[in-house]
Amino acid sequence: MKADMAGLFDRSAATYDRIGVEFFGPMGRELVRRAGLRPGQSVLDVGCGRGAVLFPAAEAVGTTGSVIGIDLAPAMVELTRADAAAAGLGHVRVEVADAQTPPLPEATFDAVLAGLVVFLLPAPIDALRGYRRLLRPGGRLGFTTFAAHDPLFTETMRTLAQHLPEEQRQSPTAGQEDLFATRKSTMTLLETTGYQDIAVDEATFRSRFRDVEHWMTWAWSHGARGLLERIPTDRLPAALADATRVLKTAGEELTLTTIVRFAFGVRA
Ligand SMILES: C[S@@+](CC[C@H](N)C(=O)[O-])C[C@H]1O[C@@H](n2cnc3c(N)ncnc32)[C@H](O)[C@@H]1O
Repeated sequence: MKADMAGLFDRSAATYDRIGVEFFGPMGRELVRRAGLRPGQSVLDVGCGRGAVLFPAAEAVGTTGSVIGIDLAPAMVELTRADAAAAGLGHVRVEVADAQTPPLPEATFDAVLAGLVVFLLPAPIDALRGYRRLLRPGGRLGFTTFAAHDPLFTETMRTLAQHLPEEQRQSPTAGQEDLFATRKSTMTLLETTGYQDIAVDEATFRSRFRDVEHWMTWAWSHGARGLLERIPTDRLPAALADATRVLKTAGEELTLTTIVRFAFGVRA
């Protein structure tokens, strides 16, 4: 399971958030803006991917602060580390590590941030408890989840899933999304894992695509790739043709509207 996750994001890493679609970038910047980081602070970014949260966080804390990004996928880490070095960010470290149980000293961070990753972990409740221990007293956890996907995205994924082998059709996603299904369940999670000053809010993001081909390239560049890869090769042309038919119902302007949930809690 862990190896499957790392493999999926390893194969996505080269194009993840790098194909000219404003999706993860604006969501990551907004998480950092809402986290209210200050110069000199120490930040852990779990599941850092290609740095949608990491780079804005590095800018916010400045060179007197520090940011550690961890990710399970070695290719994500290698590429993000190279981007950080190319940008001359000496206060940024990127390492391969498991966000389920980050191997880092307790009471170290002013902020732990997790952009669109907690629902992918095998045991999110344990992970959230662990992040609380990594925070200094008064430190803040901030994470994002998907509150609602665009109906066009959901319908396209459902159409693609029809081409999966019979036994895989029921659960096209493999995550723990149910725990984070509502604003209330998210608040309850933060309460039961020991956080205080809890705040959960939502914001809407609009992403634009040049055309259906651009949308498909985008789908291969992130977690949706997991579904595409499971479609048997001989079924793939029919699956893509069906998905194209769905996407073309959008007409000339192909966009997605995604609602993202922002959750914060403080270690007392
Ligand atoms: C949807 S991406 C989000 C990346 C980035 N935070 C962003 O906002 O664009 C999820 C990332 O979490 C990583 N990931 C998934 N499970 C993980 C785990 N157990 N430990 C560390 N990273 C993990 C994946 O490799 C991937 O890079």
